[in-house]
Amino acid sequence: AGSDHAAMGHSMPPPAAPQGGPLPPLPAGEHLPPLPLLSNQAQASGRFSASLEAAPLQAALWGDGRQTTFWAYNGSLPGPLIELWEGDQLEIAFRNGLAQPTTIHWHGMPVPPEQDGNPHEPVLPGAQRQYRFSLPAGCAGTYWYHPHPHGHTAEQAFRGLAGAVIVRSKNDPLRHLPEQHLLFSDLKLDDDGQVAANSMADLHDGREGQYLLINGAWQPMIPLAQGERQRWRLWNASSSRILKLALPAHEVLLVGSDGGLLAEGQAIDSLLLPPGGRAELVVTGRFRDGVPAGLISQPYRRGKMMHAEQQQDEVVAGIMRHGMKPTQALPVSLRSIAPLGAPGFRRRIVLSENMADPKAMFLINGRSYDMDRIDGSGKVGRIEEWEVQGNAHMDHPFHLHGTQFQVVARTVDGMWEDEPFLAWRDVVNVAANESVRLRFVQSLPGLRMFHCHILEHEDQGMMAQIDFLAE
Ligand code: C2O
Ligand code: CU
Ligand code: CU
Repeated sequence: AGSDHAAMGHSMPPPAAPQGGPLPPLPAGEHLPPLPLLSNQAQASGRFSASLEAAPLQAALWGDGRQTTFWAYNGSLPGPLIELWEGDQLEIAFRNGLAQPTTIHWHGMPVPPEQDGNPHEPVLPGAQRQYRFSLPAGCAGTYWYHPHPHGHTAEQAFRGLAGAVIVRSKNDPLRHLPEQHLLFSDLKLDDDGQVAANSMADLHDGREGQYLLINGAWQPMIPLAQGERQRWRLWNASSSRILKLALPAHEVLLVGSDGGLLAEGQAIDSLLLPPGGRAELVVTGRFRDGVPAGLISQPYRRGKMMHAEQQQDEVVAGIMRHGMKPTQALPVSLRSIAPLGAPGFRRRIVLSENMADPKAMFLINGRSYDMDRIDGSGKVGRIEEWEVQGNAHMDHPFHLHGTQFQVVARTVDGMWEDEPFLAWRDVVNVAANESVRLRFVQSLPGLRMFHCHILEHEDQGMMAQIDFLAE
């Protein structure tokens, strides 16, 4: 284990004076902290009930007298993990302890619009509300929750409001594997060690801080044995970082996307995880001499004119060798996914930028979001195909509420390529000057938003809404 620690290339910061002087780096190299679990207060099986509160939190990041103010769910950073089963009926009593309106959005889950934290239903400061919904069969997967109030989503999320949701199935083919949970968030601190406000550059390019945190920790250590198979669930809860992750030494299979397992595992060299996106991996410990064991964030160019991008590989977590374990078998087929057939309706969605107008810089189909305008209507149960065009200088991760979609094709250097495998997703990165074709069905009626998941862009109007009508 010692040499793997050394390979991280950082050491504990010197003890810091409580105030004054430049800030020391955050402590690094501790064990990956587990996500705290939201405990279920319900007595009956098939029910989950709990309360959540969003409120300011003082945290001692350096373990000394310095305090940094965050906004947190139930006093934890990130918020508590909600573990559910398919078929569960959920009841969350929510209280807003912030000084601005907020909502809880159940990102990726098939939740009725009036329970989905739309900006139209704000929870005012000091107010409470219940979120109630039930989970249909077949929705096992990796989801998350975060605020979605009008104009304040980015700020509330980057100050700490984000939490993970796992929906489990009784027939999970990977339930024999031990799990690791890695929720990525981005921390930008100002000179006083407080969470920085967004700069003009952040509003354009998307916010990127000095620290990419996993479960609230910087460069944590993840234990793995030689030969051991682990199931990793990853969440990108950062405002705008498009993560490109690699584990050079080890065997990595992509086994799940936003909406649960793939049909079959896919061997990958790196994983592109856009803001809002999730993935499931099966990692097999294969420590090799001379190959760095750590989890690496690789540079990814988010567009043609970006200046805030990472220039070289960065180790975001150390992998700590923990003995040797037998390699568990994996089923070849994980799930059956039926391809969505020919669409009954098509739309074109154009993402664009207009730097000339500071009040409407980021647009969908030429317009900036208006809460009171409905941008179109659809029908429940009908297959739609959307061609999402990135008529833009930078990448925009596209997200649709209320359902999961299948990407059928995308352009690479301007040429259409079929998607190599089926997956259920709710976020897809639309690269600068590229297009993506996706298909979906909404199964619940009501108003659904879609937007760029760079939260700064969403808040500035790169969002629209369609009313899906019952048949
Ligand atoms: Cu993760 Cu509309 O959001
Ligand atoms: Cu969402
Ligand atoms: Cu965007």
